[in-house]
Amino acid sequence: MTAHSPTSLSRTETLSLLSLTFACVVILTNTFQGDGEPLIASLALSGLAFAATFAMIRWLGPTFMKAGLKGVDMSKHHRKEIPECMGAICAVVYLLVVIIFVPFPFYKDIVAATSGGGNRDVVLHVEHVQQGRFLHRFPHSKLASYLSAIISLQSIAILGIGDDLFDIRWRHKFFIPAFASIPLLVVYFVDFGVTSIVIPIPLQPYLGELFNLGPLYYVYMAGVAIFSPNSINILAGINGIEVTQSIVIAMLLAINDALYLITPPYPHPATDSHLFSLYFLLPFLGVSFALLWYNRYPARVFVGDTYCYFAGMVFVVVSILGHFSKTLILLLIPQIFNFVYSVPQLFGLVPCPRHRLPRFNARTGLLEPSITPWTVDRQPKPPIAWGLKMLHNLRLLRVTLDGQGRFVETTNFTLINLWLVWRGPLREDKLALELTAMQTVLGLFGLFVRHGLARVVFKEDNWGITGRW
Ligand code: UD1
Ligand code: MG
Repeated sequence: MTAHSPTSLSRTETLSLLSLTFACVVILTNTFQGDGEPLIASLALSGLAFAATFAMIRWLGPTFMKAGLKGVDMSKHHRKEIPECMGAICAVVYLLVVIIFVPFPFYKDIVAATSGGGNRDVVLHVEHVQQGRFLHRFPHSKLASYLSAIISLQSIAILGIGDDLFDIRWRHKFFIPAFASIPLLVVYFVDFGVTSIVIPIPLQPYLGELFNLGPLYYVYMAGVAIFSPNSINILAGINGIEVTQSIVIAMLLAINDALYLITPPYPHPATDSHLFSLYFLLPFLGVSFALLWYNRYPARVFVGDTYCYFAGMVFVVVSILGHFSKTLILLLIPQIFNFVYSVPQLFGLVPCPRHRLPRFNARTGLLEPSITPWTVDRQPKPPIAWGLKMLHNLRLLRVTLDGQGRFVETTNFTLINLWLVWRGPLREDKLALELTAMQTVLGLFGLFVRHGLARVVFKEDNWGITGRW
């Protein structure tokens, strides 16, 4: 933001955004000359989403602050207040874009219903369309799935904004994503209804090739829906990390989708579900890159819980509707570790302060692990004390004891703090970069396991089976 007017765009920025917008609009209008080219249209709309988010964060930041949506950046010398909840802008822009996009993937079907051969001059009579085979050709179920995804994302945006406004207690807000996933699960039930999972070869003699989880599959999907958004929200607290981890996951999911689109056999049975996944991921990347511009170190805005929930829900939506939630789980390994590692604090075995983000050492300017203090009166119970010392010996925690062996402090149970225990004090941007690199490496490994190992464990990769839209 410029020194003169923090809310306006500089001339270069305006020109760049205008050129991007112009290029995207031209591409978008051109897609109508072919078959609608939904993937190109989605790319163009994602460019527009980037431009709109970039400008609106700049314009609306101060408005958000006036409404009380602001937060203190705790890891800086000057603890400045900056706008919070910028994820709300991303969510609104994103939702508008995916709604505007609806006609594109269905363009061919609409044309088929109106002219039969792509020639819109000869419009079929209504009775032909309604009684003839054309009515059956329109993929209503695909549209229903697409719309259910939008309703779920809209719900998570509303609930996320509510959380940012009212700072809901942790144990209550944990279930917010469960409510938001209801539209998705209901439509999945009505339309798709597949509740079987493929069994790994070694277990097939006992369980068969496919195992029907029945209603449990819905419990599993609700579990994924609760986990993904929350796990992103608690791997947070340093500039940029919420957005970079989401961008890495989204890009890896997009690479996974692209693998299905470019490798023969073509068209693959799962092509449609992976195309739809891309339609949801590309605009998400558009709004996220714009947000990262402002949230990277040194942050000029905070993303808010809205963004973390929203990002997590985008992943849930694409992986459930595309029937690849196991792949999503493979890409969430750092988040799963962080969650499991957090359990002692989340479930109250060890006290959990409101904030567990790393401690800023004003003298060195570096981040150090934040700690939970223990007093002489409040010491951990013997089994917990044993566990804490054990973790310390395994280098999975740092415990400080006094001369008499009493607990003085333990580091907080987050992956970010643990990283600092391992690596020593780090500057905030370096820490975020290292964690993002780790997420990328583990994610790529996850994809390798998914496609390399899957052939060994599952006889054939999903490339050969299922996937229906
Ligand atoms: C989660 C974590 C909490 C962590 C917080 C940081 C759990 C159970 N909760 O809580 O430990 O401290 O996220 O986001 O693990 N902030 C910064 N710098 C940043 C990002 C955030 O100082 O780069 C501070 C700001 O004051 C900001 C606040 O964190 O206003 C946002 O916290 P919030 O998202 O409300 O915390 P939770 O999601 O509830
Ligand atoms: Mg948060």
